[in-house]
Formats: sequence, C-alpha cells, structure tokens
Amino acid sequence: MAIFVADKTFYLETLRTSYIFCIQDGFPVHLYYGARIERCDLTHLIDRQIYSFCPMEDDNKPQLDSVALEYSGGNTGDFRICGINIRDGYGRIGCRLQYAEHSVTEGVSVPESLPHSRAYGHCDTLTVTLRDQAKNLTVRLIYTVFEDSDVIARHTEIVNFGRECYLLKAASFLLDFLPKAEPFDLIEVYGTIGHEFSLSRNSLTRGTRSFGSNKGFTSHTSNPFFCLTDHNADEDKGEAYGFNLLYSGNFLCEVQFNEIGKTRIVSGINAETFEWRLGRGESFTTPQAVLTYSASGIGRLSRNFHDHIRRGILPERFACKPRPIVVNTWETCGVNVDEEKVLRLAKRAKELGIDTVVLDDGWFRNDNRSGLGEWETDRKKFPSGLGQLSDTLHGMGLRFGLWIEPEMVSKDGLLMREHPDWIVGNGDTPYSWRYQYVLDFANPEIVDYIGDKMERILREARPDFVKWDANRYVSESGSNFIKVQGEVPHRLILGLYRLLERLTNAFPEILFESCSGGGGRFDLGMLYYTPQIWLSDNTNPFYRKDIQRGVSFGYPSSSVSCHVTATGVASLGFRYLVSSFGTYGYEFDICALSERDAREVAAMNRRYRDEQTFVLEGDLYRLADERTYQAYEYV
Ligand code: DGJ
Repeated sequence: MAIFVADKTFYLETLRTSYIFCIQDGFPVHLYYGARIERCDLTHLIDRQIYSFCPMEDDNKPQLDSVALEYSGGNTGDFRICGINIRDGYGRIGCRLQYAEHSVTEGVSVPESLPHSRAYGHCDTLTVTLRDQAKNLTVRLIYTVFEDSDVIARHTEIVNFGRECYLLKAASFLLDFLPKAEPFDLIEVYGTIGHEFSLSRNSLTRGTRSFGSNKGFTSHTSNPFFCLTDHNADEDKGEAYGFNLLYSGNFLCEVQFNEIGKTRIVSGINAETFEWRLGRGESFTTPQAVLTYSASGIGRLSRNFHDHIRRGILPERFACKPRPIVVNTWETCGVNVDEEKVLRLAKRAKELGIDTVVLDDGWFRNDNRSGLGEWETDRKKFPSGLGQLSDTLHGMGLRFGLWIEPEMVSKDGLLMREHPDWIVGNGDTPYSWRYQYVLDFANPEIVDYIGDKMERILREARPDFVKWDANRYVSESGSNFIKVQGEVPHRLILGLYRLLERLTNAFPEILFESCSGGGGRFDLGMLYYTPQIWLSDNTNPFYRKDIQRGVSFGYPSSSVSCHVTATGVASLGFRYLVSSFGTYGYEFDICALSERDAREVAAMNRRYRDEQTFVLEGDLYRLADERTYQAYEYV
C-alpha cells in the first residue's frame, strides 16, 4: 500500500516522497509534502498562533485563515483564495467544509468523462469526504498515489444532496505550504503563436499571482504546467514541486504568498468563465491534476512527469511504439495541394526512407474560407478520391496521414446556412477568425453529427495517421442549447473529449496527432487521446530549440512533434539535431533536394530510427543551455 491511515492522519508515500495531512477540529489540515520521511506525529507543525481577527468556532482553536489546509471553501474564516465556492438557492455565497469519512482503495479512481492517469506500477487511491452541513452537499477529495514515479494525482467530486445550488468555483486541488526561509521561485510558461513555451522564473512576492486561459483552449499564451522551486534550485539540486492539469480548456492557476509568509496554490477550471448548476442528487467532477516533488532539482521533476505521462497518460498502445517519420504537405503546398503533388512527394518519400505522407489542410478546399463542416473531398484536386489515394500509398509500402479540424465550421459554408444556430455565440453575429466559427459542442447532437461525418471520412480514406487541428480560440462562448451559460466553456471541452473518445475507440490503429495553430492546445488532456502534439508553427531551428527546451520541463520528448523544414538558414545536420529531439518528420519539398542532400536525409532517417528508443523511453537530462547551443542527454 502507498497510503497509510492512522488516527485520521493520512500518509501518501511514493518511492522518494511523503505527503501527509490529518483531520484537526474537523478540517483537513496539511502537514507535509517533500522528501520521504518516517511516519510520525507532525501535529506540532499546525500553526496555533493568532494573527488577526479571523473568526472561528472557538477562539482557542487554530485559526482557519493561517492553518495549512487540503481544500477550503469561500466566504468562511479562511480569507485566502478558495478552492470551492457555491451560491445556494437564496443567493448566499460560501461553502464550509468539515470531515465526514474516508476510504482507501487499490488502483486509480477515474473522473467521469474526463481524461485521467491510467493505472501502472503500484497505485492506490484515498478519498476523503468533506460535508457542507447547511447545504447538504459533499466534496470528495480524491488522491491517487503513483509510487514508482513520485506522482500524486488529485481531483475533486462535488455531490449535491440538498436544494439546487450553483458552483462558482471548483478547483482540482488546493495545496498549502508551511513558511520557508525564503520565498519560492515560480516557474511558469508563456508565449504567443510561433513562440510557445517561453519560461519565466521569478521569486514570489506578497500577493496573488495568477495565470491561465479564458480562450476556450489551454492556449499559446499560457499552460497549466508550473513549478515552485527553491530560489537556488537548478537542474540537479534544490527542492522543486511540479503541477499540471489533465485539461484542455479554460484553466486558472493561482499562487498566493501571504502576509505571514505562507504559500497557497489553487488550480483547476477558470472560475472567471464558469458557473455550474447542481440540482438535488447531481454531481460535478473536476479535471484531474498531477503533482510531483523532487529533492534533487528541476531535472528530476521533469523526469518524474515524463515517466508518469508515458506510463499513465499517453494511450498505452502508442506510448513507446516507434512513431512514423512523416512528410507533411503544409509548408510545401499550403492549401494548394492535389493528388499529383502528394504522389510526387510519396515517390520521393519512399526513396528517402520516410514512411508516412500526411495530407494536411486543402484536400477539401482551395482557400481557408470554405469546406469546414461539410468535409467533402475536392474532386478537382483529388480526382481518384481519398480511398484510392490511400490504397496507392499503401501499395507503395507507405502510410497515409490526413488533416481534420472537427470543431470548426466555415463562416459561409453549407453547414452554417443549414444550421445557423449550431455555433458558439452570444446572440449577435460572432466574430470570426480564419473565416470560421466554433461549433457548439456543448450540444451532444452536434458532436454526434460531426462524429458521423468524421467516421465516414476515416472509413473512406483509411488513414494510419490523423492530424487534428483547431485554428481559432473560443470567443463569445454562449450556446443556443444550454440554460446556464457559465457551463458552456467546460461543456465544449466535454464535447471535444467525447468526440476524441469516440474516434480513438472506433479507429484504435490510427495514430492521432493534435495541433492548434502549432501549440495552442498542448496539454495533458489532449495527450490522453493523442500521443503527440505539433508544438509550434515556428520551425526555424534557432527558435524551435528554445520552444522545445521550454516544453521539456513538463512534457516528454515522445509527445512533441518536430519537423525539419526550410524555414531559417541552417544546415540539414543542425535541423536534424533540433528536430530529432521529438517525434520526427519533414515539411519541405523533398522532391527538390540535391542528390547530396537526399543522401543526407536518407542517412538522417536511418539514424533517427536507430535513436528513436531514447526519444520514446529515455530519461532526459538537460545538460546546458547557452545562448548559442543547448546540450541534452538521454539515458
Ligand atoms: C495550423 C497548423 O499548425 C499547421 O501545421 C497547418 O496544419 C495549418 N493549421 C493548416 O491550416
């Protein structure tokens, strides 16, 4: 067992870490998270000092506002940022939680309809149930301990036994730290399209630092992965805590460093764009979070997450299986792709030892203004049809890849004309981007309609590889079908997961790669379904190496799709070194290569096949990051 319970004290133990909390005066009180220690009584760590006027049940009890807690409701005597907040039928806001019961089970707990960490190695689950007496509602804190990788997964389930109420905030987890000699450094990720995964590192100052997304997707600008580290922590030394969410939608991470030197973190669905109705007997499940701790620097923290993601999150059937070497049509042809060009690339691909030809955007249209939602092959460009093209490639001993963008619809397209109410919007004509709107996946009927279309295409085209793109954020996120509009952003993501679940189950042999204008949706929610993600549209190796370094802090190389292209001025050898960091391919006109370069590309492909095991399974060590070079080692 990785979980021990003694006298309402809970010991969550992995190979190298201990996480300890207890029930004190009915509250779940956090005691310790760090390097593995002997089980012992740590209740002397509970802060009993009186700091200011914070009301409690009894003046002699520890103050709720200064005790380290495992979860906390809003508008109680804990005035810090809360994990959960609720509006009841009278419009009163708040949530007071007290211990009710707990249980320990073997294996994992699966949050309903959401991506989650799958069981591997030794794992056990602890559920601690808290109750809000007045509202007759329970909050279950669920912890799964993955012993081998030093990872703890957490999520929260809210069950309403009382009258109708509204969830205003429901974090996946809350974690309090005891005061430290000096404030933590916060390492977080920021960026833009083409410059994803820039790292920022700053010491915490008093107040709350929050970052997240309200763009419908995790977005290029932020990511739910972040770390808190000792100020002097580096790759190999110092304490480091890492956090991430298995979620692809609006999220919020809050880090509060308060007046008495205590740090609280709260992470989950972004409360700013969230409200959820809970009728009597109804429940709500938050996305799952993953937490890790390393006593030996940020390198180990990354390797813990890499290990967990490969073993517990990526689809098992692909996680460690050699991935294809692809040639993708996008950077060579754009939407002006046709059958002849694909066949020409295919012939050359075969000669060079590339195994998969990916037909990107443009197989159903001539520009980016039409075709989304209809999904009819353009027979002028592909006279033999996709099925025949696929057969031809298969006959040549190649694999076929196909681009789709299921969540979107063209502004002036047929589907829009037939079903103008099927798009996300707030009553007026929504703004568009790339001449497209977002389909209202909060309505399961629309998800099913698109699911049928996609199934038809995939049955006809028989691809081995699918690139699932999404090229705009969600603005004006209202629905014509949903009563409580605050539910829409999360329901859109539930609809997306439903479709991913359906298609990945219906076509288990297809390797799905996801993408969102490069790295607009690079997160653990997507990786649960699609084992690799196109990291960025910036393929200039001089920029790309930095984007790849940033992503490596939280995500394994095997999840990062990287291509050699013609962008920027660089030798083929340098391009290879940068792109072979992840899953590999090409996006330039391989037919235009000189004989000498063609020989080099063929040699690069042989080398990649030899080295791929390291990308898929190796432990990554970031050795150096200088202005002009980076060095990595896989073990
Ligand atoms: C954005 C992606 O990042 C590109 O690789 C390409 O697939 C285009 N979309 C196609 O529209």
